[in-house]
Amino acid sequence: MPTLISDAELPMATTDLSLSESERRARLHQLSKDHWIAKGDLGYVIASHDDCAAMLRDRRWFSALSLIAETQNYESAEWSNRSNRQSILSTEGEDHQRIRRIVSPAFTPKSADRLRPFMRNVVNELLDPVCEVGHSEFVADVCEPYPIPIICELLGAPREDWELFSRLAVDIFKLFNGNLAEDASAIIAASDEMDTYMLDLIAERRSQPRDDLLSDLISAEEEGDRLSTDELLSMANAILLAGTDTTRNQLGCAVALFAQHPDQFNLLREEKSLAPQAVEEVMRYLGAVRGTARYASEEIVYKDFVFPQGTLIFPNFVAANHDVEKFDEPLAFDITREAGSPHLTFGSGIHYCLGAFLARAELQEAFTVVAERLPNLKLNGDIAWKPLGNGIWGPASLPVAFDSGH
Ligand code: HEM
Repeated sequence: MPTLISDAELPMATTDLSLSESERRARLHQLSKDHWIAKGDLGYVIASHDDCAAMLRDRRWFSALSLIAETQNYESAEWSNRSNRQSILSTEGEDHQRIRRIVSPAFTPKSADRLRPFMRNVVNELLDPVCEVGHSEFVADVCEPYPIPIICELLGAPREDWELFSRLAVDIFKLFNGNLAEDASAIIAASDEMDTYMLDLIAERRSQPRDDLLSDLISAEEEGDRLSTDELLSMANAILLAGTDTTRNQLGCAVALFAQHPDQFNLLREEKSLAPQAVEEVMRYLGAVRGTARYASEEIVYKDFVFPQGTLIFPNFVAANHDVEKFDEPLAFDITREAGSPHLTFGSGIHYCLGAFLARAELQEAFTVVAERLPNLKLNGDIAWKPLGNGIWGPASLPVAFDSGH
């Protein structure tokens, strides 16, 4: 007879945000060894790789992104109007399947590959000035600016609008700050401005399609079904929201790791073809997305427990990515690790990252250029990390030094 989850005797998951990242990782690794589920502050933390993947693939667990306003007790007519618009990130069921079916063919390895030369140029341009001096605050100099030109190129926005997108992204990201009472009007204003901009671009591409993602999305069709203009606007917003801060933080995590593990960085320098494996290992060992949240859309019985409708769960990717059942010596950082179980940093199930091929290409190209141009990479001061509770996480500042002139 399954036990009601609230009656179950479960351990408490580590919620102490004052711990260092490595202490927290060690505890989460231990948790994934001992328990598949634990109590957290707002719901239940899922710690084993298999259970995280299984629950993310179970369509009765819905994305908790749609509950953002509710969990903050925030209400306003303006906000409800905007959030009523369907976003791929938070819709479920038939509606989600429909959008995902239509847009998926535009997010192939081939469409990511066509941007690789552009990605390399962007990284090289950002590195030119820092390579002259031999040191850098890598977050401000490279990680922050890197993804914006890529997203603009993807959507077909010209270079003179990179600044505009960068500014809009800052406000749109406030969605993740947990303070809608203060931030909602800035988020709505930036989203409206982006809509107005994208409407012009959509009209342009409708009359003159190009070889870019926006044209692909406009023409994407599944059995006669197409995205409406509203849905196109919502996709553009989701791409900016999901594809910018993730990539820049993941690059920051990577360069921090390389500076701390010169042996691994030298392996990559000697053998650039290790870049794809290095990306997977960096994302497993120090992922920029440390977990996600779901709620039970109905009463769910899973393993020995009953989860009443509305129960919140938090699949923890750090714990899952250090699960000894899936990874040998999970606490070791090893870019030559043989391909085996996938890390969960791109999620799993129906919301699995749509931009995974693109993100992988962005990171692989950046790793290759960084390996070529930053010999003797090392830390040049302390790394300041963002608060561990941040949904998207990485270094806030990363001072590094290296041999100049490359
Ligand atoms: C290293 C970089 C990235 C990481 C770690 C990452 C991670 C994730 C994760 C964990 C999810 C699933 C969230 C959940 O299940 O609650 C997701 C979804 C998504 N990602 Fe990414 N992402 C990255 C880059 C990108 C890029 C570059 C794009 C842009 C095209 C993108 C677009 C999306 C979209 C549209 C979704 C929603 C898919 C859906 O709900 O069906 N991501 N991402």
